[in-house]
Amino acid sequence: MTVMTSATKHTTTNEPEIRKGLYGVIADYTAVSKVVPETNSLTYRGYPVQELCEHCSFEEVAYLLWNGELPTETELADFNREGRALRALDQGLVDLVRTLPDTCHPMDVLRTAVSYLGTKDPEPFTTDTEHIRRIGLHLMAQLPTAVALDIRRRRGEEFVEPDLDRSFAENFLYMVFGDGEDSPASNPGDVRAFEKSLILYAEHSFNASTFTSRVITSTRSDAYSALTGAIGALKGPLHGGANEFVMHTMLEIDDPARAEEWMTDALDNKRLVMGFGHRVYKSGDSRVPTMEAELRSLAERHDGGKWVEMYDIMAGVMDGRTGIKPNLDFPSGPAYHLLGFPVEFFTPLFVLARVTGWTAHIVEQYENNSLIRPLSAYNGAEQRSVPAKSGS
Ligand code: COA
Repeated sequence: MTVMTSATKHTTTNEPEIRKGLYGVIADYTAVSKVVPETNSLTYRGYPVQELCEHCSFEEVAYLLWNGELPTETELADFNREGRALRALDQGLVDLVRTLPDTCHPMDVLRTAVSYLGTKDPEPFTTDTEHIRRIGLHLMAQLPTAVALDIRRRRGEEFVEPDLDRSFAENFLYMVFGDGEDSPASNPGDVRAFEKSLILYAEHSFNASTFTSRVITSTRSDAYSALTGAIGALKGPLHGGANEFVMHTMLEIDDPARAEEWMTDALDNKRLVMGFGHRVYKSGDSRVPTMEAELRSLAERHDGGKWVEMYDIMAGVMDGRTGIKPNLDFPSGPAYHLLGFPVEFFTPLFVLARVTGWTAHIVEQYENNSLIRPLSAYNGAEQRSVPAKSGS
């Protein structure tokens, strides 16, 4: 039997070809986004993500992912009105979040919140595209409020109700940090940096969490189950959980003067360094330059030179030793730290964005469904008989 990994790309006759980790497998078509690693390009519905970051709001990008086209002014105004009206949580969800242990990971709270919202949806689930988009819009509106509530209750602070006059990004920063002079919600540069991170995190073809959502959808299960499963997949440190672990690493190193030694030790001992490497991009992640530029501006505004210095040293050592480049989580980790978010909430921030991409993929999967069910090659015990029990 031949097991294909990154290192083995050949097979021999009469043996099943195993693509471990589905390495290099093209599982289906998608019209949502395109990743071209050779040219470091990522497009959403044909538009380069860098241009979307430059010219669009997160809401416009969500609309694009769900509808295939950027909204007109009227369409955007309607979309915003509809979405903003859904921001307030019902008392049941507020109580639920407050009841959950504040020792559990915030991703567990978010997963539970999505599951709860599924139980409260009065509409019987259908695979109708409009119904799934309504679920997506509801979650896009509600999850930021739930995450803000979770952050504040863990800090022992009062809940801040959503402000329906603010954009998605600004409202979330406002619910977490208030509207004081020092709040990122009051700083247009900070709001835009956060918004760009949301656009960059919104969608990335058949990554592990999106594929999870498509596998669940392919059984004709409901969208809440697919989204709950996707959150579970995103939590892992090899996927979305990496942005949290990047910051834990940087906080552990603490001083840029120690960064080279730390990296050398990690690589000598074959430890994974979070925030580096990618299954698809092997010569750099297309999203990094935009986020890295935002990190540098945030560092200037918030006296965060130390993190940028550490970033550069770590990236330099990694490149010199292995040629492996940073992925999006490497700049977004310290950027979220400079915005003031607690480290364990970095991956929930990723969810707030990716729920838009997941929803687009759930719709696409239903529109042209085939049960996703791969085969396995058995390598366990030979067939045998169950031993007779004494007395039988
Ligand atoms: N730190 C150290 N070594 C790394 C590495 C990292 N972050 N990423 C890859 N490598 C090494 C692998 O150990 C492997 O070494 P080997 O050939 O000696 O076994 C080699 O580089 C090739 O890795 P590859 O098989 O191409 O990676 P993959 O496609 O299986 O895995 C990731 C991709 C993302 C899972 C992997 O790079 C990783 O674990 N990164 C850290 C977690 C992370 O940042 N995740 C977010 C991804 S967006």
